[in-house]
Amino acid sequence: MSTHRDAVHAQFDARAAAYLSSSVHAAGPDLQRARELVAGMSPRPARALDLGCGAGHLAFALAPLVGSVVALDPSDGMLAQVAAEADRRGLGQVETRRSAAESLPWPDASFELVATRYSAHHWSGLDAAMAEARRVLAPGGHLLVIDIEAPADALVDTHLQAIELLRDRSHVRNRSDLEWRALLRGIGAELLTMERWGTRLEFASWISRMGTPQAKAEVIRGMLAEAPAEVREALRVEPDGSFQPRTGLWWARIPGV
Ligand SMILES: C[S@@+](CC[C@H](N)C(=O)[O-])C[C@H]1O[C@@H](n2cnc3c(N)ncnc32)[C@H](O)[C@@H]1O
Repeated sequence: MSTHRDAVHAQFDARAAAYLSSSVHAAGPDLQRARELVAGMSPRPARALDLGCGAGHLAFALAPLVGSVVALDPSDGMLAQVAAEADRRGLGQVETRRSAAESLPWPDASFELVATRYSAHHWSGLDAAMAEARRVLAPGGHLLVIDIEAPADALVDTHLQAIELLRDRSHVRNRSDLEWRALLRGIGAELLTMERWGTRLEFASWISRMGTPQAKAEVIRGMLAEAPAEVREALRVEPDGSFQPRTGLWWARIPGV
């Protein structure tokens, strides 16, 4: 019987190139905003950590703004891609490390910044990962979370989570704004800003990036086509199955000394 960890490896180990070239991941207002927020940190963070770095877009965006950034991911395929691309871009500040967010291989207070983008919905142990992020943050350190935001409306939320799981068997859950606020409160972090944007997912590339089997892609297309009007409107479903969930950004600070 295979585990969730097996599903993560099955989904990501061979897909690093697709994530490097993905326009959803390589650009976006959230990435620009992440740069602005980190650029506003004073003093400049000496050590930053990117949890679930994938092909490395967040780590690459933050690298010029920090002393060094560790790009962490359980997938060796992703880490090899990040190391090669960091080298190609001349980003000597980027290091890679194989691990999962739920168990971090550093002592307490090792980083001034812990960030994560489009990864937390894959973590089966989100509470443990949040506790680990809190543990490795230095007093006064900042935490940046970017992920697809679960809709507050239960009907829309159920449809979104269902198609996400059909597309990607390593999907666990998108969390809502309320859930993220509670998680941040739970580790004693103060939320400084929450922002959101619509993120258009073009159906064909969204499916091919994850290598979703054709039969499941057809089920997703059918579910979107038959979804109630409230769901189709909230997710802005288009005739070809493209749709637009929201990306949320949570920027928080843990207490200083
Ligand atoms: C969509 S990619 C991340 C995209 C990337 N952060 C960016 O900005 O382009 C999701 C990544 O989360 C990683 N992941 C899955 N489970 C994880 C876990 N428990 N801890 C850390 N990373 C995990 C996957 O291996 C995958 O590389």
